Amino acid sequence: MDLQTVRKTAREKLGGVCRVCPVCNGVVCAGEVPGMGGLGTGASFKNNIQALAEFKLNLRTVHQVSQPKLSCTLLGMELAAPIIGAAVAGVGLNMNAALSEEAYTAAVVAGCHHAGTACMTGDGPKPEFFAAGLAAIKAEKGYGIPIIKPRETERVIELAQQAAAAGAPAFGMDIDAAALVNMTNAGQPVGPKTQAELAEIKKHTSIPFIVKGIMTVDDAEACCAAGVDAIVVSNHGGRALDHTPGTAEVLPYIAEAVRERMTVLVDGGIRSGADVLKMLALGAHGVLLGRPLAISAIGGQAEGVQLVLNKMIGELRAAMILTGTADVAAVSEDVIW
Ligand SMILES: Cc1cc2nc3c(=O)[nH]c(=O)nc-3n(C[C@H](O)[C@H](O)[C@H](O)COP(=O)(O)O)c2cc1C
Repeated sequence: MDLQTVRKTAREKLGGVCRVCPVCNGVVCAGEVPGMGGLGTGASFKNNIQALAEFKLNLRTVHQVSQPKLSCTLLGMELAAPIIGAAVAGVGLNMNAALSEEAYTAAVVAGCHHAGTACMTGDGPKPEFFAAGLAAIKAEKGYGIPIIKPRETERVIELAQQAAAAGAPAFGMDIDAAALVNMTNAGQPVGPKTQAELAEIKKHTSIPFIVKGIMTVDDAEACCAAGVDAIVVSNHGGRALDHTPGTAEVLPYIAEAVRERMTVLVDGGIRSGADVLKMLALGAHGVLLGRPLAISAIGGQAEGVQLVLNKMIGELRAAMILTGTADVAAVSEDVIW
């Protein structure tokens, strides 16, 4: 199997729901939610791509870094590189029946594990979404992190306890799904959380707690004060609120404020190893990939996911050599021009 075949197969299976464009940038699919697009005008998705494009890298080759270190420990997991799969739920419902929810989740979690990394899994109005994640994480010996919707606090705690029992090394909550009507319509209300509610969740759970969907320094500080272990700087791939900045724009401010006290992850528009290096230089400890892995799982199951990750890890290695970066755990901001 090669990447071209994976993309061609994905395009066929998706039947127009996603066009599998040469560059996945949110332009053609603007407003297509459900689907793969960004919400409304698609500005938040497009801003993720644009923000990363505006940062440029300093090419440096007079140094001795020929074998950079890509492996790292994130949230207690030993990873081949600081690149994790993002939670993408609803493939079984909204993607032209390309794959069932269970098959999709199993493929993306296994593909990440085979590439030496881990994957987050999603949640939704149907219990099968969350269950598919737990089953895949069990099958891949704990190399996965379930992300729970910002449901009622007691329910979040219950699901987090199920995640711990399934062997997950951490759990998260995509707090930016606070206005998701399909959850509320299905009788499973979601909403924003106060700092006290975040602290309550932390108090009643045993594995590290990640809050995903942080876009301001204030919210990051509140998570830190609540004892949250990690945040994901994310605008949900542009699917929560229209007209947010790109994540690469806000990351440096958030990282400067909290990265010495908690793990800072970021996602949104990361499409190459060079993009990963930019996010690390802007202050992230690690990154998540959403659509690139979702498309490859649909086109090539676990093998497709592994191919994309291996390509990106190779690109990251080359970008580190060409910027004189010895270790992913210590990327200098001087990498950015
Ligand atoms: C179809 C689709 C479904 C998603 N479902 C979830 C989800 O259930 N939970 C979650 O935390 N994020 C979800 N996300 C957001 C991703 O986890 C991630 O934040 C985003 O896709 C990153 O941007 P990228 O796709 O440009 O890499 C979803 C994204 C897409 C495109």
